[in-house]
Amino acid sequence: MEQESGIDQATQRALLDRVHRHTGIHMADRKWTLLQGRLRRRLQALTLESYADYLAVLESRPEEVGHFINLVTTNETSFFRTPRIWEHLWEHALPDWFRRHRGATLQVWSAAASTGEEAYSMAMLCEEFRELHPAFKYQIVATDIASQVLQIGRAGRYQGRNIEGLKRIRPAMADKYFQAEDDGFVVSPALRSHVIFREHHLHRRLDGAARFDIALLRNVLIYFDDEGQRTVLEHVRRAMAPEGVLIIGESESLTRLNVGFDFEQPLIYRRQENAHA
Ligand SMILES: C[S@@+](CC[C@H](N)C(=O)[O-])C[C@H]1O[C@@H](n2cnc3c(N)ncnc32)[C@H](O)[C@@H]1O
Repeated sequence: MEQESGIDQATQRALLDRVHRHTGIHMADRKWTLLQGRLRRRLQALTLESYADYLAVLESRPEEVGHFINLVTTNETSFFRTPRIWEHLWEHALPDWFRRHRGATLQVWSAAASTGEEAYSMAMLCEEFRELHPAFKYQIVATDIASQVLQIGRAGRYQGRNIEGLKRIRPAMADKYFQAEDDGFVVSPALRSHVIFREHHLHRRLDGAARFDIALLRNVLIYFDDEGQRTVLEHVRRAMAPEGVLIIGESESLTRLNVGFDFEQPLIYRRQENAHA
């Protein structure tokens, strides 16, 4: 393998550019050490001598792109991440929507779903809401650009830190919606039947989808530059129902971007009613 300190600048820049080309994620030059660390094991698995050789593989084998995307994305997530937004959904968004849309099915989009904890948190909340309001119906679409995390979400099988966290913060829900299996916990079939997992690049239009009443676009905008954020938000806006609720992550804000959403409270926005479809 190359002397790691001696990797040529052109290869570095080219690999950082490929991250942007394939995912829209903006990685400045100073992120090279991070990217290098993430790609190192892949080089070893392919028995490649250098990052330049890896770049050549990435350019010549389309099937490598999926591996690359799985490696370069940051997939950290947890159940009921940022408690405040789940309280808002339970106390305001779900009851408001149900009062105004009797007979309809609530459409939710978990738009950078990672391994599915966000989508299943939403499903648990909806199930609890349905116990109080048996006529309530919902459907959740969970999308991500990385195929590996989607596989975990589809399987609905969790072990370690995240499921332990759920047991700590919402023990009754963990018991009710997860069953112990081997060395992990599997989401109940009833919950899973409400969540569809799909691969989707947020910089593209989402085809054939319903108009979403709630879009969870959390902890993903931070990876894009301003232009990328505007592109993503325009696609998300078009996929949403008029007055749909958009929820973003704690380190994110839309205020500078002027993208057709009204601020409701920190992290919570509403699609402008007059925004064209
Ligand atoms: C830090 S996780 C956030 C997960 C979850 N939304 C949360 O807040 O806990 C970011 C996710 O965004 C996904 N992602 C990154 N770029 C993307 C893109 N262009 N299109 C779709 N998903 C993307 C990554 O694969 C990763 O799973």
